[in-house]
Amino acid sequence: MTKHDILKHDIKDIGLAEKGRLKIEWASREMPVLKSIADRFSKEKPLKGMSVVACLHVTTETASLMETLKAGGAELALCASNPLSTQDDVAASLVKNSEISVFAIKGEDTETYYQHMKRALSIGPQITMDDGADVVSTLHKDERSLLKGVIGGTEETTTGVIRLRAMAADGALEYPIIAVNDAYTKHLFDNRYGTGQSTLDGIIRSTNRLIAGSVFVVSGYGWCGKGVAMRAKGHGARVIITEIDPLKAIEATMDGYEVMPIRDTLKIGDMFVTATGDINVISRECFELMKDGAIVCNTGHFNVEIDIEGLDKISKKRRIMRDYVEEHTLENGKRIYLIGGGRIVNLAAAEGHPSAVMDMSFANQALCAEYIVNNAKRLDKKVYGVPEEIDKEIARLKLEAMGIKIDTLTPQQEKYLRSWEMGT
Ligand code: ADE
Repeated sequence: MTKHDILKHDIKDIGLAEKGRLKIEWASREMPVLKSIADRFSKEKPLKGMSVVACLHVTTETASLMETLKAGGAELALCASNPLSTQDDVAASLVKNSEISVFAIKGEDTETYYQHMKRALSIGPQITMDDGADVVSTLHKDERSLLKGVIGGTEETTTGVIRLRAMAADGALEYPIIAVNDAYTKHLFDNRYGTGQSTLDGIIRSTNRLIAGSVFVVSGYGWCGKGVAMRAKGHGARVIITEIDPLKAIEATMDGYEVMPIRDTLKIGDMFVTATGDINVISRECFELMKDGAIVCNTGHFNVEIDIEGLDKISKKRRIMRDYVEEHTLENGKRIYLIGGGRIVNLAAAEGHPSAVMDMSFANQALCAEYIVNNAKRLDKKVYGVPEEIDKEIARLKLEAMGIKIDTLTPQQEKYLRSWEMGT
């Protein structure tokens, strides 16, 4: 490790590096698409000399992405995109074994979280990689002098894309962003299958409660909500969806779920999961109407979906029952169990999406970083979707890794699709 690298990190304990290294190796076996990109990157060096600041959940999967970007020639600094999601052993391995600057400690307070981000930003990013748009927002609010060096960025998650589109609409966005979240190979795998499995994992690991037979309320029927509902149903729960969008509500109904206003779910729900991206979906008044023993958690990016302050105000007693399970005894005597402090439950109380899922998301991140380097001059200060050729290439590589072959169009079929004269 160079002196520069030794100076540039803030992690919990470098002694955890070996444990982290083995976990990273374990995860990387499930990430063949990223591996094939890393192999190409190490020969072609498409990111040579580029400084990349990544603000992502510091997990084994993120470690594989960091190693891929490094193989491509990037200079990296990594900070956490959530104070609770860092795996300290992974952070240690990245510093010790991969010589990457990491600023992240699980459980860091909000002040340290932003200090870490600023230390990462101090390398002077040319590319930013965000999960929730906190880096873009910090650069635009507090570190404007660094903006001139940035040629582009990527955004991993729905919440971040919404914030960035709002910035672009206000004319405030100072550099182009590729919305990795919007790639089909990202949201199909990550938001639906990833959030579906890992949210249930977070609830089960933290509570050890039986899902079968429970009344399981999911707020929001976007890609994430769909995944959670699907997996809860698979466990045998009676799943109820709450929605504000008539299109999503009708889709949930046709998918076989009960749909009703959140108020009507309160007296019957055993478990509540928010997946909306908006604030105060479960408000203070909701808690008062819930059943004694209700379990409440959030799987949206920010801890704003549950009115935690409101819950604190009406709680006369609080106890930590198990890791990540906080009991709130309300003035009316009922007990509400908040998981992971209302933070994204799959990362706070479990390990986030499985590696095979992040393989797709992070393959998109790596190829979009390369795309930015090659196309920055042509891009405006806007939010762009992932180019279709990248999306398709990732699906192709995943199918190849899974040993699945597909058909190709015959010349006659191609001609038919291009023509408009031919009918019945
Ligand atoms: N977001 C959700 N799951 C994740 C994971 N395993 N690694 C990084 N980011 C994630």
